[in-house]
Amino acid sequence: MTDPRPVLDILLYGAAGFAVQVLECLTGRGEQGPRIAGLIDATKPGRRGQVISKHRVLGGEEVLEQYRPETTGIIVAFGAHRPRIDLLRRLRDGGWRFPNIIHPSAIVSPSARTSEGIIVAAGAVVGPCCDIGFGAIINECAVVSHETHVGACAQICPNAAVGGRCRLDSGAFIGIGASILPDIQIGANACVGAGAVVCRDVPEGVVVMGVPAREHGTAGKEQQDAW
Ligand SMILES: CC(C)(COP(=O)(O)OP(=O)(O)OC[C@H]1O[C@@H](n2cnc3c(N)ncnc32)[C@H](O)[C@@H]1OP(=O)(O)O)[C@@H](O)C(=O)NCCC(=O)NCCS
Repeated sequence: MTDPRPVLDILLYGAAGFAVQVLECLTGRGEQGPRIAGLIDATKPGRRGQVISKHRVLGGEEVLEQYRPETTGIIVAFGAHRPRIDLLRRLRDGGWRFPNIIHPSAIVSPSARTSEGIIVAAGAVVGPCCDIGFGAIINECAVVSHETHVGACAQICPNAAVGGRCRLDSGAFIGIGASILPDIQIGANACVGAGAVVCRDVPEGVVVMGVPAREHGTAGKEQQDAW
């Protein structure tokens, strides 16, 4: 059920390239809706006051203390996969709310079901009867075909194509330009390397790459931080 309380402000957590991409998704929707309060950069304290695409870096994580979780929406606007998942979960446990960000040029089927905090970037397509979980990213020009389940915090990178009736479990990462054949399952926190063509199911936590995709070990924490 949709939370009836209005979101008054939006904070972007992140202030680099992906944040700019998200800001572009937000422009063009007119003056209606919540105000973009500013950006949080928890990694570089010196950036406080800098202006990124017309919006100010407000400071680090301490900025959260100035806003109320009940009425403030947060967008986790950086791509580093594992840190992003950890932050989304921490903020959700703290009661924060997560608007969905859908670029005006993206196409999301009216029959697709979307959870909170998803980002669908420019040119991406989400097909009929898909199911997109909390915090998932469908990046630029990626295609998710019909009846596919995209689990919480999964990330589908630019130009990747996921066939119909696939299942991507939570935290799955699909690299740039990869192709997943129809009816394939990608386990939780598994990684499909850039450009791979996946013809068989990928177990939880396993990294695959190449054409056809072959196993390349399991993903350690350090690797996951880098995706
Ligand atoms: C698959 C992947 C996770 C492997 O990472 P890794 O384990 O750190 O692998 P390495 O970089 O050490 O490379 C190991 C070998 O595999 C090769 N390789 C790396 N990625 C490859 C890929 N996607 N396809 C084919 N070969 C690849 C490397 O050239 C290297 O070959 P070599 O041993 O002959 O020199 C990573 O390369 C990848 O594709 N990540 C996705 C990046 C992406 O799409 N980012 C999107 C940001 S929006």
